Amino acid sequence: MNLLDLTGKTVLITGGAGAIGQVITATLAAHGAQVAVNDVLPDAEGQAIVAAVAGLDVPADRVAYFRGDAADPAAAERCLDAVTAAWGMPQVVACHAGMVDAYPVTEYPLDRFDLLMQVNVRAAFVMAQAAARRWATAGTPGLLLFTTSWVQDVPWPEITPYNASKAAMKTMMRGFARELAPQGIRANAIAPGIVGVGMAKRQWDTDPSYRARAQKAIPLGALQDPQSVANAFLFLCSDLAAYMTGSVLLVDGGCSLYPMD
Ligand SMILES: NC(=O)c1ccc[n+]([C@@H]2O[C@H](COP(=O)([O-])OP(=O)(O)OC[C@H]3O[C@@H](n4cnc5c(N)ncnc54)[C@H](O)[C@@H]3O)[C@@H](O)[C@H]2O)c1
Repeated sequence: MNLLDLTGKTVLITGGAGAIGQVITATLAAHGAQVAVNDVLPDAEGQAIVAAVAGLDVPADRVAYFRGDAADPAAAERCLDAVTAAWGMPQVVACHAGMVDAYPVTEYPLDRFDLLMQVNVRAAFVMAQAAARRWATAGTPGLLLFTTSWVQDVPWPEITPYNASKAAMKTMMRGFARELAPQGIRANAIAPGIVGVGMAKRQWDTDPSYRARAQKAIPLGALQDPQSVANAFLFLCSDLAAYMTGSVLLVDGGCSLYPMD
């Protein structure tokens, strides 16, 4: 018996065309799930990413692209409608889309603050709310996953609004878990560390002061392989995690053990 078999499950992941999202998508699909990749990227770009994921030994009919801004309630509903028409209502909805900006707190532009809260906090709430309403109305169980970060509890310099957004997502996850448990709807979070692709890697490559700090902040010593994040998703999507709700699965190489610097 394969306890990590996701056959028969449909997973919708926002921000699924991003660097970590692609690895999560490939991993879940390789274990039998149908994965609906939501992102704001233009259709051609999103479809090309999904085709590349399907090239990694994943049957092409297990992954598909559904464009839409997860922070826009109408777009979130359209996305859920389209996935439901294709594969049925997803049993798992992963609120994974995110962005980061780096500025000292005294210089942080408020328009960037507003955008970041929209992408990280509002998009997660909008998509989670839309999915939970459908599960509650249908009387079916469901699972919400939220991608937070080790910095949800750590004041990592120059990204204070991002830290706050991840703390908000963690609290929001616990709220969904607490309120919806009687309806069989669960919610958990995955908190990665400093991953060697995507937003952290962009900062690592372009900001020497970030790189110097990050090098000191990882007790296990190396940038995180995105596969380790995908493995945490696989576990939480599987029946092995069926009794988990309201939990944060920290997969961060020990980053959160240290005060950095
Ligand atoms: N890279 C890291 O080190 C790291 C560490 C901890 C947590 N995370 C989190 O993991 C997630 C993915 O990060 P990544 O490094 O792969 O970044 P990424 O920039 O490669 O991917 C983010 C994706 O989200 C999409 N997106 C943005 N706004 C959206 C919206 N409104 N609706 C739908 N999609 C939207 C983007 O187009 C992009 O494809 C984020 O939530 C991030 O905060 C990343």
